[in-house]
Amino acid sequence: MSKRVAAVLVTGAMVAVLTACGSGGGGSADKGSGHKLVVGFSQVGAESGWRTANTKSVQESAKKAGIELKFSDAQQKQENQIKAIRSFIQQKVDVIAFSPVVESGWDTVLKEAKDAHIPVILTDRAVDSKDESLYVSFLGSDFVEEGKKAGEWLVKEYAANSGDVNIVQLEGTTGSAPANDRKSGFADATKGEPKFKVVASQTGDFTRAKGKEVMQAFLKSQSKIDVLYAHNDDMALGAIQAIEEAGKKPGTDIKIVSVDGVKDAFTAMSQGKINYDVECNPLLGDQLMDLVKKVKAGEQVPRRIKTEEGTFTPEQATAALPNRQY
Ligand code: AHR
Repeated sequence: MSKRVAAVLVTGAMVAVLTACGSGGGGSADKGSGHKLVVGFSQVGAESGWRTANTKSVQESAKKAGIELKFSDAQQKQENQIKAIRSFIQQKVDVIAFSPVVESGWDTVLKEAKDAHIPVILTDRAVDSKDESLYVSFLGSDFVEEGKKAGEWLVKEYAANSGDVNIVQLEGTTGSAPANDRKSGFADATKGEPKFKVVASQTGDFTRAKGKEVMQAFLKSQSKIDVLYAHNDDMALGAIQAIEEAGKKPGTDIKIVSVDGVKDAFTAMSQGKINYDVECNPLLGDQLMDLVKKVKAGEQVPRRIKTEEGTFTPEQATAALPNRQY
């Protein structure tokens, strides 16, 4: 065999191996030319335990799938996300995935991605764009449903009470899909009963520090607080510190209903400090990488993929705690 023929055979075998790895669940996901698929991922930030778990899931799943991940942390600022998306376009990544900090103001940059023929996948949070051709799929939770579940729990919990129930609400980041939707879902579930009164509602930006700060202000300004509804666990955990420092018992003097289902919240539930937690699943990495591969292979993918989620009473949280991943 001539040296030239041998070289061609070896190259052919290498391409075959790379292609075989790329088509399966693991190994290297290549574009058919020996290059790995490249995904630009713009993350919201590191504001909560949920977010940390989400980042870990996306990074680990990309590695497992043999996909190169260009990761960018927006530190909860939309302008940083827009910059990151523009940089992904310049770098000609195969797919852009992002979890939008807020719902509005994406059309221009998403049009730029579309013009560059780079498909966009929304993960975790939605955008309010009217033009649905600007993204191929949205993978994440139903936040309205989460808010409803929190409200429905409250309705049952206070079924025997006829007096006013004063509620304070810690909202997520202003303008974000989870803040908007969890607020409206909760309002919807409780609106039939005038005894439920939201006496104060303010953003805690999904962080523990802000949750504590805003709860301190609520405790000063409100003479009677029966319930705290927190749009995420980190704000609830910050608020618990404020309640305890004010000499009150969280979970007893002030009932707490929250969203996420992170380990720290389950610990607080096992101590009787949170009364109900609505799950929001951050482990989206594997589904996202599957979507990326399908989109690049030209397969039809669903426009909307909803995450399966449950709810937790303190007893259920205590039982789930030893095996909770995040
Ligand atoms: O978008 C999901 C929300 O964002 C989670 O509930 C919260 O913890 C996070 O910061």
